[in-house]
Amino acid sequence: MNKKIGVKILGTGSYFPKKLLTNADLEKMVDTSDEWINTRTGIKERRIAEKNETTSDLAYMVSLEALKSSNISPDKIDLIIVATITPDMFFPSTACFLQKKLGLNSIPAFDLSAACSGFIYGIATVRAFIESGLYRTVLLVGSETLSKITDWTDRNTCVLFGDGAGAMILSASEEDDNILSTYLGADGAYSDLLFLPGGGSANPATAETVNQNLHTMKMQGKDVFKAAVPKMALSAQKALELSGKKLKDISLFIPHQANMRIIEAVAKKLDIPMDKVFVNIHKTGNISSATTITALDEAIKTGRVKRGDLVAMVAFGGGFTWGASVVRI
Ligand SMILES: CC(C)(COP(=O)(O)OP(=O)(O)OC[C@H]1O[C@@H](n2cnc3c(N)ncnc32)[C@H](O)[C@@H]1OP(=O)(O)O)[C@@H](O)C(=O)NCCC(=O)NCCS
Repeated sequence: MNKKIGVKILGTGSYFPKKLLTNADLEKMVDTSDEWINTRTGIKERRIAEKNETTSDLAYMVSLEALKSSNISPDKIDLIIVATITPDMFFPSTACFLQKKLGLNSIPAFDLSAACSGFIYGIATVRAFIESGLYRTVLLVGSETLSKITDWTDRNTCVLFGDGAGAMILSASEEDDNILSTYLGADGAYSDLLFLPGGGSANPATAETVNQNLHTMKMQGKDVFKAAVPKMALSAQKALELSGKKLKDISLFIPHQANMRIIEAVAKKLDIPMDKVFVNIHKTGNISSATTITALDEAIKTGRVKRGDLVAMVAFGGGFTWGASVVRI
């Protein structure tokens, strides 16, 4: 019988645009306060891309980081996947723009759309491709410029989001198997609670759709909050079950960074002490598909986790989509 192909995490990276937008800056833009934003969300500041800075630009910078951390050259990559809800254009895919920037050609490249669960969906996809023997070394990127689809006049949403990118390079391995489990879920019945109505085939861009601001995110915050907590807790439990590990075996929980109160409620539901929960929302805001991977990269770089540790990454997002993965660092 053929030996099962393992999936090894070769390296990770994170990248943020230079420009900082603080709560004090937002106070000058909409009727809000640092106190409100901080106590209701835990966010203090976020990074914002420049006008001419695209999602594939962030993806390119973070890919260089991940290649360095993996100690491989770009030509070793044989598949590129970019999880994003803020592509450079409808098409070509952001993954194709990234492929060009990396000086690669011929290898397959595509985008994956699962909103804030995008990176977890990506891990599951890469794992299946590698285990099937189709590809050996895959560049997986979560990259977002949410600032470009934010309504900067809507205080309900504009304080929540930021820009950034994270990447992971995964490779087939005969010795290591770092992805212990992946669990995914979705429920399109809730598609009208967090969405971007304009520009697609439902509401093709016209002067009217632009006047109505339909090209920016719309959200029913309270309903999203209520759904996120149980689904994230369920995802963590399912991924743990599938991994054959217990809560006590996990060194660090990395929840999607959307709201500090969501993170605390999920931790409470799972009975996880907050010192085992990674939080960086105060300096990033919600960066959708890039949250879990940039958090993991920071946890590795700051020594919060070390080689051999088990980490549970959990996400929830528009769709609704949700998912979790237990990985060995
Ligand atoms: C958006 C969110 C922070 C709002 O917090 P909340 O406690 O539910 O607050 P509410 O929506 O009930 O609003 C309370 C009041 O604050 C006001 N408010 C909303 N945003 C505000 C802001 N930025 N500054 C000041 N006041 C604000 C509201 O208008 C409302 O005022 P009213 O009572 O006079 O109508 C919260 O619901 C949330 O984080 N939801 C999940 C969002 C999310 O994670 N989305 C992405 C998922 S991947």
